[in-house]
Amino acid sequence: MRSDNFEIYRQDMHSHLLPGLDDGVKTTEDALSFIRQLGALGYTKLITTPHIMSGLYNNGPDTILPALDRLRAAALEAGITTELDAAAEYLMDDYFESLLNGREQLLTINGQYILVEFSFVALPFNYRTIFFNLKMAGYEPILAHPERYMYLHHDLDFYHELHEAGVQLQVNILSLYGYYGSRVQKMALQLLDAGLVAFTGTDLHHQRHMDVLGGKPLDAGLRAKLAGGVIKNELL
Ligand SMILES: [Fe+2]
Repeated sequence: MRSDNFEIYRQDMHSHLLPGLDDGVKTTEDALSFIRQLGALGYTKLITTPHIMSGLYNNGPDTILPALDRLRAAALEAGITTELDAAAEYLMDDYFESLLNGREQLLTINGQYILVEFSFVALPFNYRTIFFNLKMAGYEPILAHPERYMYLHHDLDFYHELHEAGVQLQVNILSLYGYYGSRVQKMALQLLDAGLVAFTGTDLHHQRHMDVLGGKPLDAGLRAKLAGGVIKNELL
């Protein structure tokens, strides 16, 4: 099956495919099924990103890297050729700040990108300092799904400010479909039109997400925009 979205489904840098590590995929069998389904859509490389949320998902290199090894081995055995890698989706909180300040090993995408997310409730009060410190430590921060933080929706300037500070923005493809509601969809489109989006991600957790991604294609104009060279996933 070759999807009409084929041109935008090549490299993914945001998903929850390591079994049992977070609120994503539960079993190796399911992980392999999703990797196969994503492969059928056109994805050749998947960089999966388990949540790191202190107290809830206590992940780090010690849990993520062995889980990646196990999934790679299972994929190999199943004859799957999709390239698999892992980083993490860090909640930007005190714990993350302590890792950064303590110069702990952070899990990167391509050696330099760090995927971070904000709380869905409120903006981290010291986000400017954290982004600045990340840059000073040689990392390139990527903010996951900026369109999903409702408390920012009134403020397009905020996103411009992040962009100017060198924070890259990653929109969820599911947002473009309207999966999270029309307000989130509108914000995603607005960010795209403003030229502020650097990456797209599936943020795949479960089959309902997969069904949307593999369902009817996004509209042709939107696909052309995503395939038009502004999105940097293919550098990964
Ligand atoms: Fe995520």
